[in-house]
Amino acid sequence: MLMVLSLQQVSKIYDTKAGPVAALTEVNLELAAGDFIAIMGPSGSGKSTMLNIMGCLDQPTSGTITLGGEEINTLPGHQLPEVRRRYIGYVFQHNNLIPTLTAAENVMLPLKYNRQFQGNKASLANTLLGKVGLGHRQHHLPGELSGGEQQRVAIARALVNNPAIILADEPTGAVDSKTARSIMELLKELNQEKGQTLVIVTHDPEVAGEAGRVYRMADGRLDFFR
Ligand SMILES: Nc1ncnc2c1ncn2[C@@H]1O[C@H](COP(=O)(O)OP(=O)(O)OP(=O)(O)O)[C@@H](O)[C@H]1O
Ligand SMILES: [Mg+2]
Repeated sequence: MLMVLSLQQVSKIYDTKAGPVAALTEVNLELAAGDFIAIMGPSGSGKSTMLNIMGCLDQPTSGTITLGGEEINTLPGHQLPEVRRRYIGYVFQHNNLIPTLTAAENVMLPLKYNRQFQGNKASLANTLLGKVGLGHRQHHLPGELSGGEQQRVAIARALVNNPAIILADEPTGAVDSKTARSIMELLKELNQEKGQTLVIVTHDPEVAGEAGRVYRMADGRLDFFR
């Protein structure tokens, strides 16, 4: 089977003034198109570090990462944003919306760097915000939205380039259980109907229960759980 994303012996050591921090140690993971996996594990165990590396936001200290058949760990850093744009939709742990832009403008932002995009940006933003139940809030600023609404805008933004892989770092971490369920329904629908590969970092056993496979991270090491 063709793997959309594979990590082989991936390690990440952060160099800090206080000394080196081993955030990831020899992580191996194979993802096929349409997979839905969950990653659990305590705070500080390396979950966001791993997602950042999978999402081309950071590079590993050692190891091999293949994305869509291309080895990306050897690419120069300035080429990573283009690779990310081509494959990845990223939902940040803290939603990272631009506070001075409206919901619709935030959703459209990744298209600015997409020279191939031909359609109408505003109407795509409108459609995606409608999908996350926020059609009526498209001209509002993030500060005028609730935490759950902001997170839903962040999900709409992650979908705007129609990514093969959605990486979501605790997408339901800051919302009530009803909103969490609607976010999960949306992500599951994209996974099942469009075959988008879905990786969710979560502390919530109910969210992990929806995934096809679950992994646990501890002290930078990733282990298959079920
Ligand atoms: N930019 C950085 N520089 C140095 N150390 C870092 C950096 N980012 C993370 N770390 C360290 O790497 C380890 C893993 O951090 P990471 O953010 O990946 O954890 P996490 O599993 O996502 O935790 P949480 O559940 O709290 O979000 C931690 O020990 C953290 O202190
Ligand atoms: Mg984290």
